[in-house]
Amino acid sequence: MTDGRAVSRAYRASADSAACTAVVGMQWGDEGKGKVVDLLAAEHDATVRYNGGANAGHSVVVGGERFALHLVPSGILHPGCRAIIGNGVAVDPFKLSEELDGLSARGVDTSRLVLSSRAHVVTPYHKVIDEYREDRLAGDGGRAIGTTKRGIGPCYSDKAQRSSAIRAGDLVNRDRLVGKLELARRFDTALADAEPVEAVASKLHEVGQRLEAHIEDTTYLIHGMLGEGKSVLFEGGNATLLDVDHGTYPYVTSSVCSVLGIPAGTGVPGAMLTRVVGVVKAYSTRVGAGPMPTELHDQTGELIRKRGREFGTTTGRPRRCGWLDLVALRYSAMINGVTELAVMLLDVLETVEPLKVCVAYEIDGERTDRFVPDAAELERAVPVYETLEPLGDGVAEARTLEALPKAARAYLDRICEVAQAPLGLVSVGPDRSQTLRLTERAHV
Ligand code: GDP
Ligand code: IMO
Ligand code: MG
Repeated sequence: MTDGRAVSRAYRASADSAACTAVVGMQWGDEGKGKVVDLLAAEHDATVRYNGGANAGHSVVVGGERFALHLVPSGILHPGCRAIIGNGVAVDPFKLSEELDGLSARGVDTSRLVLSSRAHVVTPYHKVIDEYREDRLAGDGGRAIGTTKRGIGPCYSDKAQRSSAIRAGDLVNRDRLVGKLELARRFDTALADAEPVEAVASKLHEVGQRLEAHIEDTTYLIHGMLGEGKSVLFEGGNATLLDVDHGTYPYVTSSVCSVLGIPAGTGVPGAMLTRVVGVVKAYSTRVGAGPMPTELHDQTGELIRKRGREFGTTTGRPRRCGWLDLVALRYSAMINGVTELAVMLLDVLETVEPLKVCVAYEIDGERTDRFVPDAAELERAVPVYETLEPLGDGVAEARTLEALPKAARAYLDRICEVAQAPLGLVSVGPDRSQTLRLTERAHV
């Protein structure tokens, strides 16, 4: 008979020696998580998505070639790395299938992609509902959230509602699909003119059969890897300030995007995380509606948008741009327990003058350094700025910290001081090679 305690001890010993790294966005998304995951995936055995869905758009640039990943974990570009979509992800199976085809056509081995049988499925009905609600909210005094219209909110609503929700494991069972879709139609007026159930069920069943070989129980898969001492990298979709619990509600997405989503979205306890990399863009951007205290409506905002090519990877929408918000950053660092920072797109600020960072808010005449995640309250926050020395030329060309202009190093110091975390990496351009690696550890 197996000694359960001995097995458990052995498991803990190897699991403890395995690296469990999280890469998480500290702002409103598009911080450059894809680039960081791609860099770190080289030293991990698997990359795991735990939240969100095809609302995410993660770019990786390798030798001038650009990849935009939406559902497939960014580690797929490394031949030795498993790419796992955990149970917490909202999966549009048609988008996933399309993305896999696109990657295969570019020579990427996609057989390493594994999809949790318990991941929830975004159906064509969810997209209809998302669009229906957004269009009506927009016409109703401009109250739309500005979603990506990828069906994310309706899918997670169904998950919580339970009765009509579909999980990846259901895709191969046509009768079950018909039953669930009929329920969805019965309860939602937005679906009155939507495609008939039989047609939608057939399409889902067909794509389910294509994906079947990828579908399995990912919780056991990940724990099996950890038990063998393998290292796993968790890739956050969206970002902390879009987190449904801790973000600028209601202008958020519908999943737990911070590292707090990892346990629920994969079945791996948070205590197993050994390293949390907080990805920070050197300034702020936001897509969609909702408060953004440091937003710039002037030429500096335009300059940042142009230099940073700030247009959405998923929807192509222009991103709102503004100064770095250190109040928000301190809050995100706290929520995620970051152990190091990756500061991205520093090159974009090279010619920006004057250069400002927000160090506090004034709300109803009171100064505070606390972030206020309630959207209505944050709308009233007036940023208090500190003006810093312009970064100077040569940021994009630097490959070591020492080669950066002095003012750029001071800017990074200020960020680390506020976030109370050391610098792990600085990015000065989109390509893998345009990176300053700062820690001694082999995997950075
Ligand atoms: P993600 O969603 O967090 O993965 O970020 P996105 O891929 O949506 O947006 C980040 C954009 O910035 C992409 O176009 C990247 O190629 C680009 N990028 C990443 N790092 C840098 C950098 O250091 N400098 C510049 N100029 N662009 C970068
Ligand atoms: P990555 O992973 C930027 C935003 C949308 C919208 C809000 C709700 O690329 O950083 P949803 O479709 O999720 O219901 O939209 O959240 N949003 C993102 N913004 N980057 C993302 O992902 C985002 N994912 C969602 O613009 O304001
Ligand atoms: Mg993005």
